[in-house]
Amino acid sequence: MSDFEHVFDAPPEGAAADWTIPQDWASYSEVEHRTWDTLYARQMKILPGRAADVFLKGLTALDLNTGGIPDFAVMNPKLQALTGWTVVCVPGLVPDDVFFDHLANRRFPSGQFIRKPDQLDYLQEPDIFHDVFGHVPMLSDPDFADYMEAYGKGGQRAASLGVLQNLARLYWYTVEFGLMQDADGLRIYGAGIVSSATESVFSLEDPSPNRLGFDLERVMRTLYRIDDFQQVYFVIDSIEQLKRDTLQDFGPIYGRLKGAPDIAIDAILPTDAVFTRGTQAYAARGGRF
Ligand code: PHE
Ligand code: FE
Repeated sequence: MSDFEHVFDAPPEGAAADWTIPQDWASYSEVEHRTWDTLYARQMKILPGRAADVFLKGLTALDLNTGGIPDFAVMNPKLQALTGWTVVCVPGLVPDDVFFDHLANRRFPSGQFIRKPDQLDYLQEPDIFHDVFGHVPMLSDPDFADYMEAYGKGGQRAASLGVLQNLARLYWYTVEFGLMQDADGLRIYGAGIVSSATESVFSLEDPSPNRLGFDLERVMRTLYRIDDFQQVYFVIDSIEQLKRDTLQDFGPIYGRLKGAPDIAIDAILPTDAVFTRGTQAYAARGGRF
């Protein structure tokens, strides 16, 4: 889900200046806890053999399957000991500058609410299942943890340069919808995929989408869609590669991007490393599952 859109300009009633709210774990209902359990169990039938080792390792280390929605008071000390990150609750999507400030300080903002039982498969706004199950395991990896902090700092800079749209695409195609070349083949690590039963399968196995080698500048020029399965996924070699590529000063890249046209969502360029040349059949028939 996009973390780059927001509805309010000021923190809503009851939220702090940095938009955080208490998790108030005791307030979750029995139904809400069972929703977590259902989603967790469903993903665990799908993810072994599909999710990257680094994701599965983080999931195990954080012990997010103790029955019901994780209590941040229990989860945060474990995460903090691993990488110095913590998770804070917010009412929903927050403004870009607030989001970046949290990341730059190793705080990941998570929605407090969980989806309703009739929304198990799809919802527009990120809930606690997407945010915690999807994002937090990766934050237990030291390299990914560094990447996310650097991203927060990079976001503050990109905003001041007017190139946020380009940087948002990097987030989209890595943090949310990234694929990785693991020892045993292609694996998923993007939070938008690992938290979705249908896209976990589609992203790896459907003949429709393109799967292309990750290329930083190319990715920052590529359009994306927020309303359906992706038409292109980008494959990194490793988290270290991602960290290395993004460590460089983006100044010269931003300079070049200013004059460069956007790249269509289904384009394959002569310079692309092609893992899968997709049929685009799913998108051509109108998509939406
Ligand atoms: N290196 C980027 C810059 O100079 C910052 C950044 C790091 C952005 C990691 C995204 C991810 O702006
Ligand atoms: Fe997300």
